[in-house]
Amino acid sequence: MSPEREPVAVIGTGYVGLVTAAGFAELGSQVWCVDIDADKITRLRAGEVPIYEPGLEQSIARNRERLQFSTELGPALEHARLLFVAVGTPPTYSGDADLSAVHAVVDAMPASDRHALVMKSTVPVGTGAAIRRMFGERGKTGFAYVSCPEFLKEGSALKDFLGPDRVVVGDDGNWAGDAVAGLYAPLGAPIVRTDVASAEMVKLAANAFLATKISFINEIANVCEVTGADVTEVARGIGLDQRIGGHFLRPGIGYGGSCFPKDVSALKQLAGNSGYHFQLLTAVIEVNELQKRRVVGKLQKHLGSLVGRRIAMLGLAFKAHTDDMREASSLVLAARLQADGATVSAYDPIAAEEARKLMRGVEFADSALGAVQGADACILVTEWPEFAELDWARMRSVMAGELIVDGRNFADRAAVAGAGLTYEGIGR
Ligand SMILES: NC(=O)c1ccc[n+]([C@@H]2O[C@H](COP(=O)([O-])OP(=O)(O)OC[C@H]3O[C@@H](n4cnc5c(N)ncnc54)[C@H](O)[C@@H]3O)[C@@H](O)[C@H]2O)c1
Repeated sequence: MSPEREPVAVIGTGYVGLVTAAGFAELGSQVWCVDIDADKITRLRAGEVPIYEPGLEQSIARNRERLQFSTELGPALEHARLLFVAVGTPPTYSGDADLSAVHAVVDAMPASDRHALVMKSTVPVGTGAAIRRMFGERGKTGFAYVSCPEFLKEGSALKDFLGPDRVVVGDDGNWAGDAVAGLYAPLGAPIVRTDVASAEMVKLAANAFLATKISFINEIANVCEVTGADVTEVARGIGLDQRIGGHFLRPGIGYGGSCFPKDVSALKQLAGNSGYHFQLLTAVIEVNELQKRRVVGKLQKHLGSLVGRRIAMLGLAFKAHTDDMREASSLVLAARLQADGATVSAYDPIAAEEARKLMRGVEFADSALGAVQGADACILVTEWPEFAELDWARMRSVMAGELIVDGRNFADRAAVAGAGLTYEGIGR
C-alpha cells in the first residue's frame, strides 16, 4: 500500500487500457477508467472483465477499491492530473492510422494547466506535435502532453506491464514527463527519457523490427524446405548469436493481431506520406501475406484438389493465451480453404466466441477431437499448450485422413508420426 501514489485516469478500457489500469492499481494508485462503451463500463462495474488476459480478472478483483469505471470524463479530470489515453488506432483503407478516437479524446479536454494527456495508443510520428498545435489553437496551451508508448504483449500483458524491458517517456520538458517517469519508477526498468517524436518512432520501429524478424525467419524456413535444412536447427544456431538474439525466430503461418499488421503498414504509410519509399517493410508485408497462404499449398501437395475435403483448424486466436481475433491468420486461412472448395471445422479453447462473429460457414466444435472428426487434414493454427498434449492416436482414429500441418512447429513430430499420421511443419 502506498497512500502517496499519484492517482491516474485511463481513457479507453480495451486490452491496453484495462491492463494499464490494473497495473497502476497494483502499484497502489487510484485509477479512474473512462470508456464510451456503456455496456463495457456496466460489465466492469459488475466485476466482469470483458476480455481474456491471464491474471487480469484476478488483478481487477484484487484492486476493486482502487478502480473506478465510468463513461464520464468529469470524475477522472477531478481526481487525476495524468490522463493515459489507450483508445484504438485501427488502420484506415489507405494503411494510415485512424486517429478519430484519439481526436475525440483531445476534443473532450477542457482548458487546463493542471492536466496532461499521456499517449499510450500507438500513433504516427507527429501526432503529439499536432495535438499540441490543436490545444494551442483552442486556447488550451496549458494542457501538457507526454508520449508513453505501450509495449505489452497480449497473452502476458499484465506481466509485461509490471516487468517491462524499458519504459519510454517522450515529453518537451514539462512537469508531466517527470510525473509519468515517477509513476513507473517502482518497476525498476530503464526509463528512456526523450522527445515526443522520438518516443512515437520507438514504438513503430520496435514493432516493424519484430515483424521483419518474423518475415525473415519465415523466408529462411521456406528456403529450408527446398534445400533440406531444418529451420528449427537454423534458428537455434543463429539465435545464440547475441547480435541476433533468439526471440522471434519461430517460423509459422505469418504474424497477425491488432498491432504488427497495422503498425507496420502505418510506418510504411508514414514514410510514404513523407516521400520515402520504405522498401524493406513492403517486402515484410508481402512475405507475411504469402506465408498465410503457404499452408494451402502444403494441403494441396498431399491431398490434391481441396474440393469436397474437410479441413480442421485447431486454434483460431492470433496467438495463444488471448481471445483476440483481430487480423488472425486463421481468418485468411479459413476463407482461402472455403474458396478452394473445402469444408472447414474449427476449435479454439478461448477465442471461439469472438471467431464466430467473424467467420462465415465454419463448423465450430467444442474440442480438438470434435473438430478433427472426419477431417482429411488438420492444421495447428494457434500454439495453445493443450494442443501440444493431444492424444494423436485418438485423433487418428476419428480422422478420415492422416495429414497434420503444424503451422507453429510446436507439436511433437515423432509422436504425430508414431500415431500413423503424416507430419508437415514449416521449414523442416
Ligand atoms: N493490444 C495490444 O497488444 C497493444 C499493445 C501495444 C499498444 N497497443 C495500442 O494501444 C491502443 C489501444 O489498443 P487496444 O488493443 O487496447 O484497443 P481496444 O480496441 O481493445 O480498446 C480501445 C478502447 O477504447 C475505447 N474508446 C474508443 N474511443 C473512446 C473515447 N473517445 N473515449 C473513451 N474510450 C474510447 C473503446 O470503446 C475500447 O474499449 C492502440 O493504439 C494499439 O495500437 C495495443
